[in-house]
Amino acid sequence: TLPTRVSLVDVGPRDGLQNEKEPVSTAHKAQLVAMLQAAGLKEIEVTSFVSPKWVPQMADNVAVMAAIERRADVRYSVLTPNLKGLEAALPTRPDEIVVFAAASEAFSQKNINCSIAESIERFAPVVQAAHAAGIKVRGALSCALGCPYEGEISPDKVERVAGLMRAIGVDHLGVADTIGVGTPRKVQAALERALKHFPLQELSGHFHDTYGQALANIYASLELGVHTFDASVAGLGGCPYAKGATGNVATEDVVFMLNGLGIETGVDLDKLVDAGAFISGVLGRPPVSRVARAVLAK
Ligand code: HMG
Ligand code: MG
Repeated sequence: TLPTRVSLVDVGPRDGLQNEKEPVSTAHKAQLVAMLQAAGLKEIEVTSFVSPKWVPQMADNVAVMAAIERRADVRYSVLTPNLKGLEAALPTRPDEIVVFAAASEAFSQKNINCSIAESIERFAPVVQAAHAAGIKVRGALSCALGCPYEGEISPDKVERVAGLMRAIGVDHLGVADTIGVGTPRKVQAALERALKHFPLQELSGHFHDTYGQALANIYASLELGVHTFDASVAGLGGCPYAKGATGNVATEDVVFMLNGLGIETGVDLDKLVDAGAFISGVLGRPPVSRVARAVLAK
């Protein structure tokens, strides 16, 4: 039997926008967060505290965190790749921080300029400092299903890096298909290995939809009992260090599927479509979400 309730984390303001060439204003980012929480999202990944030279779009991280109107029942997370990022993030009061490692050495180098082992060493004090401040730590595991530089990634690698993340105290693991090449059985194999180190309630799926497999992969994850997923409103996004990678699975598409399965998300699909239409208007192109396009065409 499938889970009866699913928690969705909308990563659109961060993963969705980080790759946009034209700067999106701080006010528009805050408005997107406002519309997502109005639609019922309880977890929102707002921004990242990374080098502005590497990811210029996230340079207004402090301003965005100051501009959002917080609700007590919503959790706001931010990416922090190192202590410098964490120190900049702490005064902005995130509810959760995200460290991000990769199952592939080559991607680790391209994305965060260090080896997997070095990244774990770097994260350890970040996790400690976050915990000392009472902040939960999520770990993202990129390239868990494939790497743009190394190709196929074995489940052994997923298990190994998941274990390293757990060993430094990471509370929750997001198994990420950065380039969207995963297919359902492979996703299950990767998740089963990650489950050796993280319990079901602290494991999530983060599926980019590059090859159109993300919904099938979410369904396959549900079959294992996984009940937390990242998604990006309107299907925004891509990773600047994974050429050709498209956005995360669209939150609208996930909500439509879960509604059909009778699985509760607490998200109002019409308001979510409004949020997607808003940010798509800002970006000057239609939503990638098939559900959003169908709803808007009615
Ligand atoms: P580095 O160059 O190795 O770092 O970058 P460094 O410590 O040698 O510092 C170099 C410069 O960066 C210095 O400035 C530092 O102060 C500055 P300079 O002296 O040259 O003026 N710096 C920082 N500035 C602001 N905030 C910081 C920070 N750290 C150093 N936190 C670093 C290492 C990790 C910083 C860099 O590689 C970086 O910022 N990478 C960006 C990675 C990124 O944001 N990728 C996209 C997000 S991950 C993702 O999308 C995947 C995910 O969605 C899951 C999936 O789908 O796979 C999560
Ligand atoms: Mg991603």
